[in-house]
Amino acid sequence: HGNNVTDLRSTTHRRIIMFPLPFQGHINPMLQLANILHTHGFKITIIHAEYNSPNSSNYPHFTFYSIKDRFSEIADQLATNRDATFFLKYLNESCVHPFKNCLAGLLAEPGDETVACLITDAGFYFTQAVADELKLPRIVLRTSSLGCVLAYDALPWHSKKDCFHLSKEDSDYEASVPEYPLLKFKEIVKITTNPQGMGEFVTNILDQMKASSGIIWNTFKELEETDLQTITQHFQVPSFTLGPFHKYFPASSSSLIEQDRTILSWLDKQPPKSVVYVSFGSVAHITESEFQEVAHALANIGLPFLWVVRPGMVIGSEWLESLPEKFEERMGDRGRIVKWSPQQEVLAHPATGCFWTHNGWNSTLESVCEGVPMICSPCFVDQPVNARYVSDAWKIGVFLEDGFERVGIETAIKRVMMDKEGEEMRERITCLKKTVNVSLDKGGSSFQSLNNLVDYISSF
Ligand code: UDX
Repeated sequence: HGNNVTDLRSTTHRRIIMFPLPFQGHINPMLQLANILHTHGFKITIIHAEYNSPNSSNYPHFTFYSIKDRFSEIADQLATNRDATFFLKYLNESCVHPFKNCLAGLLAEPGDETVACLITDAGFYFTQAVADELKLPRIVLRTSSLGCVLAYDALPWHSKKDCFHLSKEDSDYEASVPEYPLLKFKEIVKITTNPQGMGEFVTNILDQMKASSGIIWNTFKELEETDLQTITQHFQVPSFTLGPFHKYFPASSSSLIEQDRTILSWLDKQPPKSVVYVSFGSVAHITESEFQEVAHALANIGLPFLWVVRPGMVIGSEWLESLPEKFEERMGDRGRIVKWSPQQEVLAHPATGCFWTHNGWNSTLESVCEGVPMICSPCFVDQPVNARYVSDAWKIGVFLEDGFERVGIETAIKRVMMDKEGEEMRERITCLKKTVNVSLDKGGSSFQSLNNLVDYISSF
């Protein structure tokens, strides 16, 4: 997109140093962005944590440096501790010195190129102070939607009335949250188990985004136009919306788990738009009983299904031990269970009819790009916000309101796959798919935003 000889000449000797947050949903967009900037002539250095370290052999054109993060000291708590801020805060403390030493070392290296800037995940808020000290411009990559940042900014994390622990019995449970009416109290309960910690985390992220030299978003203007206007008013630094990043290159090579590609030939044998694709991303966990409800619903619905069960995803199980008896035998070739899928290819496959998702932002965008309507089962952090946008604002999915229970699941799948409202959702999301392509084409909004970003970085 948009490369010309002048672009390349002005950027060829500039290097960009990038630092992703070590989780799949953050590593993917950072490495995709790195590839995009590399094709525009920048040299790329990736500093990364030891935990979830990316496979550097898939990126021979980048230089990688690993820093000690001491994450192994707490990694065993990932399956049991649902407070995401605990892990994020830890990383923002444990990485300070190793990151600073690494970056200072790189800046001191003699070379024919100069470092243009640092690009770090918004979640690594500590890096702004390091960049300031080393006099290097820092650009932030925010991997969530714009709507999520606005919701985070608005929610009453520190309010005396503890609205993050409401239960079904509370009268407000089903009501809208006044500070962000798209959300209901019953969803914000899901965002975090630690509102105080989340409030601090959000403040840190937002303050350091505002102190940065610019913000890159993995979204496209037409999807979040009103929110983009609000963001531009709230943040004085330039915003670049050049997403969806994964559309610039074929499949992701940043997968931390090996993708089971044998399912693509299975998909080839299924009728068009018939398959229910089920995946809850890289970090969500479900209980054994929820897992069994999913199995029963998929068995009862009678449609072909492809179900991603990550090893360790079911709390207390290694993999499939808690499936109902003889489940796989009974399903035969109608259903496939895999540990990890080539998700972008699955969503792009003509046989895929709907996506039952946890609404991580990458998954949501990938579904939009392929015009696949969703069933939304958000787990935590930004996912409940994304799910409300999908179901209520964009109307391209059904929110599975009351958790994992077989009858409710079957009803939601039927609404999307068999009912008129599902057809309308499919029409709307097919329109969005077309809009994505226009925005990435020459002259489109994402195309233009990428050119602006390249010019901006070249100006440092
Ligand atoms: C995490 C948070 O949960 C999410 O809310 C936040 O927006 C980003 O970080 P994660 O659970 O990893 O995200 O979900 P998501 O953002 O959807 O990213 C998952 C990535 O893994 C996607 O790019 C998806 O294509 C890929 N994937 C998922 C596979 O390649 N195969 C699979 O089987 C499942």
